[in-house]
Amino acid sequence: MTRRILEHGLELVQDFCEAEVWPDELPPSREQILKHVVSVDGLLCLLTDRIDAEVMDAAGPGLKVISNHAVGVDNVEVAAATARGIPVGNTPDILTDATADMAFALLLAAARRVVEGAWLVKAGGWKTWGPGFMLGADLTGATLGIVGFGRIGRAVARRASGFGLRILFTDPSPALPEQGVNTMQVDFETLLQESDFVSLHTPLTDQTRGLINADTLKRMKPTAVLINTSRGPVVDQEALFAALQSHQIFAAALDVTVPEPLPMDHPLLGLDNCIIVPHIASASWRTRQNMSLMAAENLIAGLKGERLPHCVNPEVYKE
Ligand code: DGY
Repeated sequence: MTRRILEHGLELVQDFCEAEVWPDELPPSREQILKHVVSVDGLLCLLTDRIDAEVMDAAGPGLKVISNHAVGVDNVEVAAATARGIPVGNTPDILTDATADMAFALLLAAARRVVEGAWLVKAGGWKTWGPGFMLGADLTGATLGIVGFGRIGRAVARRASGFGLRILFTDPSPALPEQGVNTMQVDFETLLQESDFVSLHTPLTDQTRGLINADTLKRMKPTAVLINTSRGPVVDQEALFAALQSHQIFAAALDVTVPEPLPMDHPLLGLDNCIIVPHIASASWRTRQNMSLMAAENLIAGLKGERLPHCVNPEVYKE
């Protein structure tokens, strides 16, 4: 296990097998992973660990399962695992609401300049109540564009509906509407042009890497707010910095960046209209306990030679 996970899952694993748990707060280095993985039967890893063919080969032919403590598996070379017949587990569903809550928290915070206002107060900048002081964006009647209408995108739509937002979405496949929520599937161009808020909920793939770039940012409204709780590389940060600095868009709020953590001298950190939080969208007590359990259950099923309850490459089970 490349880190201590919360106790429900940890205990389950430790009761089942002999577990070596990386004890530090910071992730193991590449060298440490390559060294400690030798001869393991199963690997429970985090999104901070790059698990590629080299790691799988270092583990050796006994490696029966890779259980990722995340719903996103872009840190795992899934094709390499499949080629070796190794099932890869992830933690879907249980973090949907927590992640959607965070996307919405970021949306509200960026729209209404909550973080900027809080800092201003602490820095002694609150002189009086002023009619034009710290104005932000309205939600009611505004348009939210959801990029990626999977579980989390849909959960964001449910929240947005309560705030009176008009909801557009894009998805690579024709998506069923979300029950009880008024939504419209549109093309990406329309979404960019019409949305006051653009919230990203795509997995990181070759198709989504750099999806938000200088060109697509140009198509957004000058009043638009970009929210990213998906993966950092979906946004070209240099282009985002230029767009925020020049007020080509109004604001951005990011839970994910490249790299993570973002270095303290990164230009995005110097902008008042950019909120950055440290990849904590799933960081609620219940959600992380459930993630630890699900990751443990996937690991244990793989060690027993059983089908993983949540497997991203089920083709390994086909003869
Ligand atoms: C995931 O599970 O992919 C999330 O990014 C973790 O918060």
